[in-house]
Amino acid sequence: MRKLIKNPALIITVDTNGKNFKRGKELSNISVLTNHSILIENGIIKDLVPNSSLNKISADEVIDVKDKIVLPGLVECHTHAAFAGSRSIEFFQRLKGASYEEILQNGGGIISTVQSVRNSSYDELINLLQPKIDNFISQGITTLEIKSGYGLSYYDEIKLLQVINHFKKFYKIDIIPTFLGAHVFPLEYKNDHEGYLNLLTDELLPYIIKNNLSEFVDIYCESSAFNLKETELIISKAKKLNYKIRIHTNQFNSIGGIQLAIKHKVLSVDHLEVINENEINDLAESETVAVLLPGASFFSNTNYAPARSLIDKNAIVALSTDYNPGTSNIINLHLIMSLAAIYMKMTAEEIISSVTINAAKALSMDQITGSIEINKLADFAIFDVKDYKDIIYNIGQNLTLMTIKKGEIIYQKT
Ligand code: NIG
Ligand code: FE
Repeated sequence: MRKLIKNPALIITVDTNGKNFKRGKELSNISVLTNHSILIENGIIKDLVPNSSLNKISADEVIDVKDKIVLPGLVECHTHAAFAGSRSIEFFQRLKGASYEEILQNGGGIISTVQSVRNSSYDELINLLQPKIDNFISQGITTLEIKSGYGLSYYDEIKLLQVINHFKKFYKIDIIPTFLGAHVFPLEYKNDHEGYLNLLTDELLPYIIKNNLSEFVDIYCESSAFNLKETELIISKAKKLNYKIRIHTNQFNSIGGIQLAIKHKVLSVDHLEVINENEINDLAESETVAVLLPGASFFSNTNYAPARSLIDKNAIVALSTDYNPGTSNIINLHLIMSLAAIYMKMTAEEIISSVTINAAKALSMDQITGSIEINKLADFAIFDVKDYKDIIYNIGQNLTLMTIKKGEIIYQKT
């Protein structure tokens, strides 16, 4: 089956010359191609054809995108979209001055979402998650990561991962489930960290990988969650089972999570709002992706990660919504792109690289998606804009015209 995406105004290829990520200055080069069309064969990018040679091309189907702009399918690499309940009360408490960590210490925060998830059935959680996935797809997202982390018991973590995995069967986009059992210590293990660590490492980690529920482990390494020693223990056990590792770190405190992550060559470190000069330098020299989450800073009214200095020092930077009910109740990657411009002074080109190829690298999907290069998946986000900067400038609007996954239109604006 051959298809042609015909005659767009621009194709932003985010070409990497086969390197599959961008660091430092490279983020600024997004490779803008004019007068070309994209030939797809069996869901894979076969060729980028100059429009002057289109008469030599035969295709079974033509998707006419005249005057539109084609980007690689967007990659949303960090969400906690599988949850139940609302934390609006806590949102307003924080606006009155209570801190996130105080609320968590008092059994609110993550723990309150855990209660809601434990009280919800598998079917209820499916019904809550489905419209959220549809929403992400309507934004041009073709690869979506979703973490567990609101079950925090053997039964409820597996339930959440099964809910996330359910959608892999019914959706064309790539859904990447991540096991975040190490989110915080649940109340029943508040005074028995060893007991919870044993549950995670001896029971959940082996069960989850064996039953194909997730290949990724995420750990919240913070003074209010898992300390350095506990984080390292989980990393070591997870590595033995061949998991790919990511960590949430440096959101509120710098306790050494970045150095630990680099030592273990983890895929990404996410958050980084509180980060010192040495940590920036070390990260910038590593292969670990710095996933920045300006939505969490905006929603929680806290400081932003130093994107400029990370990029200027040569780091591999990605962006994501961190969509979750407590610190970033923002299900809008385009808004995050605008926040990155306004509050983190990232350029439009750096932002585009950060939600495509570098986000794909954080998910270890960079060999197959994240840029428009021959032999990669035919994953595209097509925007109804005159200039790609308009996607960022028109704050809060969804200007996606079409989402294409493996050559198939999976969303079209009506
Ligand atoms: O990435 N801080 C840890 N995890 C999430 C928040 C989850 C929550 O508050 O429910 C985050 O910000
Ligand atoms: Fe998060």
